[in-house]
Amino acid sequence: MQTTRPVFLDLWRIKLPLSGVVSILHRISGVMMVLTIPVAAILFHQALSGPEGFALVAGILDFWLVKLVLVVLAWSLLHHLFAGIRYLLLDLGLGLDRSAARRSAMIALAAAIAVLVIGGGLSL
Ligand code: HEM
Repeated sequence: MQTTRPVFLDLWRIKLPLSGVVSILHRISGVMMVLTIPVAAILFHQALSGPEGFALVAGILDFWLVKLVLVVLAWSLLHHLFAGIRYLLLDLGLGLDRSAARRSAMIALAAAIAVLVIGGGLSL
C-alpha cells in the first residue's frame, strides 16, 4: 500500500515527550514479563523436583547477575502496573490534557522507582 505519511526512523534524534517514554517502557516491560514466564516455569519445575533441584535453583538465584535481572524484572512489573493504571484512567477520560498527562507520566515513572527502592530497602 502506497502512503504519503512521512517516515522518520532515526531513533537517536527522536525526542519523545515524557508520556512517550512511559508508553515505550510500558510496552518493553510487558514484553519482558511475558518472556520471563517460561523461564520462571522451568525454574519452578526444577525447584520442586527435589532437594538437589531446589539447591540448584537457589544457587542460580544467588548469582549477582541473576539478582540484577530480578531487580529489573521487579521494576518492569511496577512500571507496568503504574503506567497500566495510568492508561486505564486515560481510557476513562481522566487526565487527558497535556499538563495532567505529563504529570501522571512523571508520577508513574517515579512511583515504580520509589516502590522498588523502598521494597528493596525493606527486604534487606
Ligand atoms: C500488574 C497489573 C497490570 C496492569 C494494571 C496492566 C495494564 C495494562 C494495560 C492498560 C495495557 C494496555 C496498554 C495500551 O493501551 O497500550 C497492558 C498491555 C500489556 N500488558 Fe499489562 N498490565 C498488568 C500486568 C501485566 C503482566 C503481569 C504482564 C505480563 C506477564 C503484562 C503484559 C502486557 C503486555 C505484553 C501488553 C501489551 C503491551 C503493548 O503492546 O504495548 N501485563 N497492560
